[in-house]
Amino acid sequence: MSTKAPQGKQPDEIRNDFPIFTAHPQLVYLDSAATTQKPRHVLDAIRDYYERNNANVHRAAHRLATEATVQFESARETMRQLIGAASTSEVIWTRGTTEGINLVAASLRELQCERHEILITELEHHSNIVPWQQLAAKIGGELKVARITSAGEIDLDDLDAKLGDKTLIVAFNHVSNALGTLNPVTDICRLAHARGALSLVDGAQAAGHLEIDVGAYQCDFYALSGHKMFGPTGIGVLYGREDVLETLPVWQTGGEMIERVSFEATSFNRLPYRFEAGTPNIAGAVGLAAAADYLQTLDRAAANAHEHRLLALALSGLQQIEGVRIMAPDAPRSGVLSFVIDHVHHQDLGTLLNEQDIALRTGHHCAMPLMTRLGVAGVTRVSVAPYNSEEDIERLLNALAKARQLLA
Ligand SMILES: Cc1ncc(COP(=O)(O)O)c(C=O)c1O
Repeated sequence: MSTKAPQGKQPDEIRNDFPIFTAHPQLVYLDSAATTQKPRHVLDAIRDYYERNNANVHRAAHRLATEATVQFESARETMRQLIGAASTSEVIWTRGTTEGINLVAASLRELQCERHEILITELEHHSNIVPWQQLAAKIGGELKVARITSAGEIDLDDLDAKLGDKTLIVAFNHVSNALGTLNPVTDICRLAHARGALSLVDGAQAAGHLEIDVGAYQCDFYALSGHKMFGPTGIGVLYGREDVLETLPVWQTGGEMIERVSFEATSFNRLPYRFEAGTPNIAGAVGLAAAADYLQTLDRAAANAHEHRLLALALSGLQQIEGVRIMAPDAPRSGVLSFVIDHVHHQDLGTLLNEQDIALRTGHHCAMPLMTRLGVAGVTRVSVAPYNSEEDIERLLNALAKARQLLA
């Protein structure tokens, strides 16, 4: 069955592709940074896979297994193209960004290396902090943290000053989930490589908005989550540069990742399979490839411009509301805008907005150290996707103005 959607969709046509808005016509969904809604194209692809092709991959001689394997591996090729990797050997299926980062951290733990410092930034999600903290503790190393500027951007001078010949890896996000800051990926990777360090980009918030090109960034690793780019939950991709992956010890072990096993010793499979132990999330991979196909059917430039317009509308509207403080208002951003309102607790605000069918997220956004750095307990986050409309933002602004009067 061909599930290809028509080409070059404009923002006003996109909303109809998402059945959730038929089920909830009044819903204002401004929580796409937590997870995006799923287009029919993805739902159909998953259903079609289970109804027509379901079998385990790579092992059996029968026809269905061959079809499932072809579909699974062609999904890998789709993702390779989407992110600009040179080879499918560099595309490892994971459960998501968190697992991708953990894979690299766990593997580096086994690597005998002179370098023991790990450099992250104040902007990171817990998923890009805790695995490195654990790694530093295990290898007797040090976790260093590059500061952000008062504008909410990574301070590149501070980052450069904290890099050295003991730095093993620099791990940072492409787009901040809490502030929306769009970070200069290529520049940071260049700084890391100039000191002989590896670089890992947490692309969780970027993959649904930006056209990713790991080759242009010259990063060693790039981790993303399918569910934040219109795909299903429980599937993601870790890109790893082939020559770097070749040097990395395996992490999870078991079936699929082996070449030969005896009770005395095991030899491991080639890339990318040696990092994929056990039966993979086949339907998830198929669904994620359908999401990648769906993204390609959009007019990406128009979708991006539309999101920027919505955020600009939100920004100027919020600035009219008394007591509102926008986080990083002038930083280059993608998809996200966060704010606090004086004397209004973010949780109360979230509850009031929910009563008006406005879904957004309030709190620390899995970035507690960043909240501490900003001196706030939490923020309210508006996150957009191409299916949002100007009307969504207007309803949000009206509801916020009313909520402020009630709560402040
Ligand atoms: C910047 C960032 N990194 C990592 C993650 C973790 O992603 P996942 O829970 O899909 O593994 C998130 C999720 O919100 C995120 O926004």
